[in-house]
This record gives sequence, C-alpha cells and structure tokens, in this order.
Amino acid sequence: MSVLLELKSLDKRFGGLHVTRGVSFALNTGDRMALIGPNGAGKTTLVNQISGVLTSDTGDIWLRGENVTRLSQAKRVRAGLARTFQITTLAPHFAVQRQIELALFEREGLTGGMWRSLDAYPALQAEAQGILSRFGLRSHAATATEDLAYGEQRLIEMALALALRPKVLLLDEPMAGVPKGDGERLLAALDALPRDLAVLIIEHDMDLVFRFANRIVVLAEGAVLADGSPEDIRRDPRVRAAYLGN
Ligand SMILES: Nc1ncnc2c1ncn2[C@@H]1O[C@H](COP(=O)(O)OP(=O)(O)O)[C@@H](O)[C@H]1O
Ligand SMILES: [Mg+2]
Repeated sequence: MSVLLELKSLDKRFGGLHVTRGVSFALNTGDRMALIGPNGAGKTTLVNQISGVLTSDTGDIWLRGENVTRLSQAKRVRAGLARTFQITTLAPHFAVQRQIELALFEREGLTGGMWRSLDAYPALQAEAQGILSRFGLRSHAATATEDLAYGEQRLIEMALALALRPKVLLLDEPMAGVPKGDGERLLAALDALPRDLAVLIIEHDMDLVFRFANRIVVLAEGAVLADGSPEDIRRDPRVRAAYLGN
C-alpha cells in the first residue's frame, strides 16, 4: 500500500469567506474514501482545489510523490488524477463511442499527427468498445450522448474519467439526480472500479457511503472534523452531533 494523494493544510478563501481550512489527509492505493459534510461545508471547493480547477491559497497537494500544487488541471490528469467530466460541457451531440475514443486519443497525446492517430485507431476503438461493454452501454455506441437517459450520462462521465487510466478518481455526487432504476447501474459501476484505484467520493446518501467507503472524512465549516473507518465515524459523538443526527 502506498500514498497516492496527500493534502497538506489546504486553505481556500473567496474574498472574506474562508471556505476550506487547514485540510490535511492522505489517500492510499485502493482506498474508497467518502467525503461527507453538510451543504456548504466546502466539499466541492476542496475537490476543485485537488483537481486544479481552483488554486489553493496555502498548503500543498502531493500526487504520487510529486508536488502538483501549482500544476494545471491537464498536468494533474497526466500525473494520474481524474475527476468526472460533465457531459454537458463536452460534445453532447457526439456518439457515445466517439466520445470515449476522443478521451483515449487525448490520453495518448494523439490529437496532433494524424498518421499516428490513424495507426493507433483500431486499438483505441477496441478499448473504447471494451469500456462501453464494462458499463453496459455497448448497445448505445452510436447514440448521441445527449439522447441518453440522465443516469446513463453519468455512467458515460465515469467511463470517460476511467478512460484516462487514473490512479486517483474524484467523484462529486455521481448519484445526484439519478433516478432509482439507473442508480443500480451506477452502483454496479462503482463496485467494478479497478481495485488499486484510489477513489474519493462526495455523497449524501449515507447508505451508499457506508456501503462503499473504507474510510470517511467529515468536513464541517471547511475543516476536517473526523477521519476514520466507517465504524469510527458512526460512533464519533462529534460527527453525530454535527451531521448524522441520531
Ligand atoms: N466560486 C465561489 N465564489 C464564492 N463563494 C463560493 C464559490 N464556490 C463556493 N463558494 C462558497 O463556499 C462555500 C462552500 O461551498 P461548496 O464547496 O460548494 O460546499 P459543498 O460542496 O460542501 O456543499 C459555500 O458557502 C459557497 O457559497
Ligand atoms: Mg458540493
């Protein structure tokens, strides 16, 4: 087991609003970490700091032994960090398989020289089809992503992130707005993620959190209130008071 991601005393302010405060924790190979906390606790802000959408005011982010605190989002992706894309920010009219192929092309740095791209195409095409099969979306290969059901779009978002072969995957409320029926497929996809991948998931559904996570970090008012096993968190009186209720 090795440390893949380490956060050291991260802070973020928006003007006078101090949103994340001295956040430190580490994610190891194979971890399934849930980040929980009340609305407005700073969870999304923290994930944005980790992925590089936001720069941190102070503190450091280490990814697989490299200090990535000042690196761009793209460089963090290349260093092994992926978060789910929002389909709506990509090309929703593209066919599902083409969407995956584009992500693979980007991973391989093949967007430039066309002759090399064409050479690599059969292999990447096969890989894209494999990914679609894994997510039960093979029959939708030619469907425009915008025509998929909402839950299936979330599956594609996860498939796109995985296509980058990350070591660390960040998921910000992947189940949000997904109808119950589609939810089961998303859960199955979560369960089928590669074991050595480290996953950090923000999730409100406590049943899912306790089913999925081997570690839970509780964020309250931007600071880590608790960090431990699901059993520790369930028993922690401060967590119960601040968040879980009774
Ligand atoms: N870009 C921003 N500018 C100003 N305030 C922000 C911005 N993003 C988030 N906030 C504020 O930071 C706090 C934490 O938000 P957020 O990280 O989205 O919390 P959570 O994901 O835990 O619900 C909230 O008070 C929110 O209004
Ligand atoms: Mg949020």
